[in-house]
Amino acid sequence: MNDSAILREFTEIFGAGGGLHIVRAPGRVNLIGEHTDYNDGFVFPMAIEPEVRIVCRSRGDQQVKLASTMFPKDVVEFSLQAKIERGEPSWANYPRGVAAGLLGAGIPLPGIDILFSNTLPVGGGLSSSAAMEVGTARAFLKIAGLEMDNNRLALICQKAEHEYALVPCGIMDQMIVASGQADHAMLMDCRDLSKQFIPIDANEVVVVIVNSMVKHELTGGEYAERRGQCEAGVKFFQALDPHVKALRDVTLEQITTAHGTLDDVIWRRCHHVITENKRATDFADKLVAHFYEEAGELMVQSHESLGHDYEVSCDELDFLSAEAMKVKGVYGARMTGGGFGGSIVALVQPRAVESLTKHLRETYLARFGITPDIFATKATQGASVVL
Ligand code: GLA
Repeated sequence: MNDSAILREFTEIFGAGGGLHIVRAPGRVNLIGEHTDYNDGFVFPMAIEPEVRIVCRSRGDQQVKLASTMFPKDVVEFSLQAKIERGEPSWANYPRGVAAGLLGAGIPLPGIDILFSNTLPVGGGLSSSAAMEVGTARAFLKIAGLEMDNNRLALICQKAEHEYALVPCGIMDQMIVASGQADHAMLMDCRDLSKQFIPIDANEVVVVIVNSMVKHELTGGEYAERRGQCEAGVKFFQALDPHVKALRDVTLEQITTAHGTLDDVIWRRCHHVITENKRATDFADKLVAHFYEEAGELMVQSHESLGHDYEVSCDELDFLSAEAMKVKGVYGARMTGGGFGGSIVALVQPRAVESLTKHLRETYLARFGITPDIFATKATQGASVVL
């Protein structure tokens, strides 16, 4: 939907008049460094072109009214003066959580009308929830005439996801949606939130995303279970070495030695995280050096580790990643995001995009009877006010 269509729809739902603003918040794809963020480790995401686009307007009262072009029947209303509760429809829990988080942080908020519209698939593992959260926060701040730095804003949005969507996520998604830079991927140290922006030369490599169309649901409990298993691993290593605060602090040697002593499932979860951290920083080095074959090889290893050690892949993602690697000019491919469905990401020579798209469309349809959504994307800027 283009801006004039969204503005028209906003007026139809909320009435004409007043100063309208437009905020955009991109989705994200993680190139490598998966399930490392809540282990104080390294992630390497970039913000992508599909986005949540928000039209908003200040109200004279303390009410919040929300609508979405994705769910045309719902108009959700709540007051900023009472405790903000979770509830139905579930999509509104993200903005509810953000409003509660901003108020809780002492930010005075005016009432607001918001219309959300999406070019970002929901449940595709591309952080439509983080985009909605960060977009809502930027919309509120715009209307309130306030600024906030990206780290603080991302942390408030993460808390909203924990408390209102009940997903105990790490900080990666909210941070990249808030802080992304055009034409760069972001290597972030999730311990101190320091970031390094690494250019992606679009003349040399293209990032292709393939949505398996298998719904990615993190509220199912598997995500929280993985976090719990990592914590069990931390306890084990802490008993051996009191300096260990998170899996980030466990060395490859320590995890190798623990094989056979540590419970096998916990061992594999920890082994994934520890090896993935190294792959993420190595990957960034390879990208800087333009060593794309080697970067691609790390993506393939990451996928194997997520399937075997972390057990968050599925047949569809395994199939897409393996088939992608059969296409000439594809450097690497792997599942991206939390897992259990969602998308894969591939690093590809520009001239291979077409053949990759054709190959995956045909083979995936033949194998699973589903047409995947495939698109190439550039790295974009994080959430911003457009109007
Ligand atoms: C989800 C979470 C992130 C991160 C990834 C896995 O996207 O929201 O915090 O843990 O899964 O890397």
